[in-house]
Amino acid sequence: MKVAIVGGGGREHAIAHSISKSPLCKKLYCIPGNAGSLSIAENIPISAEDINGIVEFCKEETIDYVVIGPENPLAEGIVDELNKAGIKAFGPTKKAARIEASKSFTKNFLKKYNIPTAEYEVFEDFNKAKEYVVKKGAPIVVKADGLAAGKGVTVAKSTEEAIKALEEIFINKRFGDAGKRVVVEEFLEGEEASFLIFSDGDNIVPMIAAQDHKPVFDNDEGPNTGGMGAYAPAPIINDTLKERIINEIMLKAINGLKNEGAPYKGVLYAGLMIKDNNPYVLEFNCRFGDPETQAILPLLESDLLEVMLASTEGTLNSINLKWKDSYAVCVVISSGGYPLKYEKNIPIEGLTEVQNLDDIIIFHAGTKMQNGKILTSGGRVLNVVAIDKEFKKAQQKAYEAIKLIHFDKMHYRKDIGNKAYKYL
Ligand SMILES: Nc1ncnc2c1ncn2[C@@H]1O[C@H](COP(=O)(O)OP(=O)(O)O)[C@@H](O)[C@H]1O
Ligand SMILES: [Mg+2]
Repeated sequence: MKVAIVGGGGREHAIAHSISKSPLCKKLYCIPGNAGSLSIAENIPISAEDINGIVEFCKEETIDYVVIGPENPLAEGIVDELNKAGIKAFGPTKKAARIEASKSFTKNFLKKYNIPTAEYEVFEDFNKAKEYVVKKGAPIVVKADGLAAGKGVTVAKSTEEAIKALEEIFINKRFGDAGKRVVVEEFLEGEEASFLIFSDGDNIVPMIAAQDHKPVFDNDEGPNTGGMGAYAPAPIINDTLKERIINEIMLKAINGLKNEGAPYKGVLYAGLMIKDNNPYVLEFNCRFGDPETQAILPLLESDLLEVMLASTEGTLNSINLKWKDSYAVCVVISSGGYPLKYEKNIPIEGLTEVQNLDDIIIFHAGTKMQNGKILTSGGRVLNVVAIDKEFKKAQQKAYEAIKLIHFDKMHYRKDIGNKAYKYL
């Protein structure tokens, strides 16, 4: 079949890498893709946000199946539009994607279905929100309701900081309509983990757990980014916790969404806080995580395309995922200055040497090909993924491989995966 992947980051390169190995895939397109996807797919220069453009392209090229990477087109209803045009797609409908696109919807949903999450209130008014913050005291968490590219949440250490965040959202309208509503919630102390499942609306198939590293500098210092690294499986999620997450969170969420008239197909991602060995939902995402996917998918031995098709067709109960008995560590290389100001169009050296190493995969994120040279084109540039049966070796191999890569002002964290050791 002809398959198209929407998106152009490291997550989409990782998805393309897995799908390109499927015997079911005869031709692969990336919309728009990056310099990495060029070697396994045809890149189509249409923006991932241009839903009409994508639907038209898929009709013209008679694409059989479209896999959506990022949240924005899902929240805008790309799956509904593709389906209307008679094209099958992997991912939730607009209605089901509210699980990521509206934090107030999700908090009310979690409460209704008795799924563990931080205590909260929803506000549409600055003064009422401020009163609540003063009453509750710090630390406290302020979240813009809608999609805000990972910038809508403030974990406030003081009431002043929380009030400032409320001012940004309600008065300065920093997030536009995404900030019409605000969730103010209890601060949960603990360690985070990402738990992803495939769902077909009724059945679920869990993936191995992963852990992301959001802050830009070592020891979780500096501003939050899209993610500076990840590893899988994350040993913080032991078998007991895994069973509880499946039964107390994921199955309840999938059944709840069906009950709300929004059956959920695709990948459901739970951002969890593990507090005193109990899992709480911080948020849901309606798609694969970036960079968790780059650590999870290289360990998947099953045919990814087959699993995705089963999610779309409602036949996931026939699927049993097979995983490599190994660890994957993914280190993100970013442009210096990211997530604030950074330069683009810097030539990248050393990629060919690294590609020849065993147990190393390079996924591209912000890269482009120009006159036969690979240049930087975004904040997060490359993902170096190393695989080994031993966690420590996977981590070492990733950092050894990075030494071969160079571009001006490149930056990466030196401590990706260190949190795993206390559970190994
Ligand atoms: N209730 C909470 N307690 C402590 N930290 C939180 C809480 N909610 C969110 N956070 C922190 O803020 C980050 C971003 O919040 P999240 O709800 O995942 O929103 P988004 O990913 O949309 O920005 C989380 O990864 C976590 O580090
Ligand atoms: Mg998050």
